Amino acid sequence: MNKIKSVKQSFDLTENIAVITGGAGLLGEKHAESIAEFGGIPILLDINKKAGTEKAQRITNEYQVDCEFKLCDITDESQILSVRDALLSKYGRIDILINNAAIDPKVEAKSENKLSRLENFPIDQWNLELGVGLTGAMLCSKIFGYEISKNSNGVILNISSDLGIIAPDQRIYRKEGFPENEQPVKPVTYSVIKHGLIGLTKYLATYWPGKVRCNTLCPGGIYAGQSEDFVQRLTDLIPLGRMANIDEYKAAIVFMVSDASLYMNGSTVVIDGGRSVW
Ligand SMILES: NC(=O)c1ccc[n+]([C@@H]2O[C@H](COP(=O)([O-])OP(=O)(O)OC[C@H]3O[C@@H](n4cnc5c(N)ncnc54)[C@H](O)[C@@H]3O)[C@@H](O)[C@H]2O)c1
Repeated sequence: MNKIKSVKQSFDLTENIAVITGGAGLLGEKHAESIAEFGGIPILLDINKKAGTEKAQRITNEYQVDCEFKLCDITDESQILSVRDALLSKYGRIDILINNAAIDPKVEAKSENKLSRLENFPIDQWNLELGVGLTGAMLCSKIFGYEISKNSNGVILNISSDLGIIAPDQRIYRKEGFPENEQPVKPVTYSVIKHGLIGLTKYLATYWPGKVRCNTLCPGGIYAGQSEDFVQRLTDLIPLGRMANIDEYKAAIVFMVSDASLYMNGSTVVIDGGRSVW
């Protein structure tokens, strides 16, 4: 039986060691801020050393917690093991894992649009993206998840997407002036990875019962300098009529990684302005 806490106390993350993959990226930084705001210790794993170091430093200063950056390619098991060993020797435990890292080449920015198309999609690109988005998430769950399972009330949170539950509407990626067979598309990898993470969640949710809860968050698209045209086409598909602001997932992150969601396990939380209900 868990000790009864007030609702407010149940959000507390004091001293929780939270590993965030892709922690140097746009959303990874926000996950780290949310955790730090509630007293947790975010550990940012990324291959981007410069951004990761700067972000960890800023969060440490702003939130007065010991946010750390660890250079780690999550496709390389030996690098994950080194991070695990370093964390265990410093803190003695790991409490939270957020599988957030991804390679998500922006369709808009592709100079070679037609390579995104399934009929041309390079196998190396498939392997690269799945290596980070799915294999990386599995490896981190295997290595950090096992450590988390040694305590009670641990959490793994997988970051999927609205495109983890619906198909991409390829019409929004179209570019004027290109023939049909060169029109860019959201690549097959994104759908497969984001749906796959929901499968991984269900597997993990039953694997260490009573020790590790695992859930999926499916965020919708965030404003990040996309072209006006693209934003218009996308927001036409969203009942709230807009994309998400960068901070609009922070409260959900705290809820999903803290005891506030103690009875949530194997669930998919969709925060997409209603896009997937249309
Ligand atoms: N931004 C959005 O609109 C949006 C919407 C829905 C879902 N998501 C999902 O949220 C997550 C974060 O997205 P984001 O927009 O912050 O992306 P981002 O590209 O800003 O961040 C991803 C981070 O992953 C890191 N990374 C890539 N390969 C790695 C590897 N091998 N090892 C360790 N780190 C690696 C990158 O260096 C980068 O810092 C992704 O899973 C993405 O699919 C994003």
